[in-house]
Amino acid sequence: MGMIEKVMEEFRTRFGSEGDIRGYFAPGRVNLIGEHTDYNGGHVFPCALDMGHYAVARKRNDRKIRWFCTTFPDSGVQEADIGDLAPNDNGLWYDYQQGVLWAFEQNGYQIPYGYDMVMAGDMPAGAGLSASASIEMIAAIILKDLIEVPISQVDCARMGQYSENKYNGMNCGIMDQFASAMGKKDCAIFLDTATLKYDYVPLNLAHEKIVITNSNVKHSLAGSAYNDRRRDSENALEELQTVIDIKTLGDLDEKTFEDKKGVITDPVCRKRARHAVYENLRTIAAVDYLKNGDLKAFGKLMHDSHVSLRDDYEVSCKELDILSEEAWKIPGVIGSRMTGGGFGGCTVSIVENDAVEEFKKKISAVYGEKTGLKADFYIADASDGAGRIL
Ligand code: GLA
Repeated sequence: MGMIEKVMEEFRTRFGSEGDIRGYFAPGRVNLIGEHTDYNGGHVFPCALDMGHYAVARKRNDRKIRWFCTTFPDSGVQEADIGDLAPNDNGLWYDYQQGVLWAFEQNGYQIPYGYDMVMAGDMPAGAGLSASASIEMIAAIILKDLIEVPISQVDCARMGQYSENKYNGMNCGIMDQFASAMGKKDCAIFLDTATLKYDYVPLNLAHEKIVITNSNVKHSLAGSAYNDRRRDSENALEELQTVIDIKTLGDLDEKTFEDKKGVITDPVCRKRARHAVYENLRTIAAVDYLKNGDLKAFGKLMHDSHVSLRDDYEVSCKELDILSEEAWKIPGVIGSRMTGGGFGGCTVSIVENDAVEEFKKKISAVYGEKTGLKADFYIADASDGAGRIL
């Protein structure tokens, strides 16, 4: 039995079989390159995964919600009235969904009815693969399809970001929600976060796999340090704006940044800005290389991205450094870097098909030896974005 059928069974047991019951999937994402650029007006290059959250839902006649998640059975059935939802930073699974309902209403989308729902995830949470965005997009897609709120997929992503910023207190950019809402099978999304213009780039890797390695650590400062990085970048931007007419750090080319960077007084903010500017340029170049079939050059930029995230943006950690640095040594590894917000979570690597087993063996051994921890591996299959599946 597939995931959605299991969730359907759970729904029927809990909430009964009558009426129009529908099934949905919203994926997590992995970002190939373009990290910490999305709130800096730069480019990102994520793809939606075939792991994420599944939900089965039925419309109610009132504005109540009754939700259950089989991944977190201890929280029981969560009940609330849509009109009573208020921001909090508890970060529980239902807070990410409730935040989206709240965001819709804050932005003028009326939600006439609530819904009963059972949800289940088949992806690791807190691992930098955007489990939270996937949960948010489940809520958005249910509102769009089941409750018939007129909204586009892109605006679903916008509502997800809005809710995470204003309801859950995490000042994230739009990459994760965009990837979950707008993913396309066998493609990555080259997204300009300044304009939300995007392009699907086929990932026809004939001889390689995209391997995600989970460090299985999440350092507690992740949320607050993320918001700090964002503020550092904004401080740098403000100082640059006193000498040059730009809207975001993503507007800068290398020469202009090098000419003007002296105006940024704090050396830490200058490093943050350097990452944001160069990472954006790397992302644009990397996508060009991929389109031209030069995977080796793409891999080199993944390497440079990790180094910049480690040294300039300082969002890596010992475990992610070990995973990437050890991967670079293995023959058949085209590129490897931390992915997502950082401070734990996952790396993403491009590995030649024939080298995948050796990669897993070597990384498991050396990671275990150096940290005492176990690494988990997933092969990324780029998938379609959030939608109805049953
Ligand atoms: C988290 C955020 C994204 C993005 C990445 C870093 O995943 O949710 O918006 O900023 O970190 O690239």
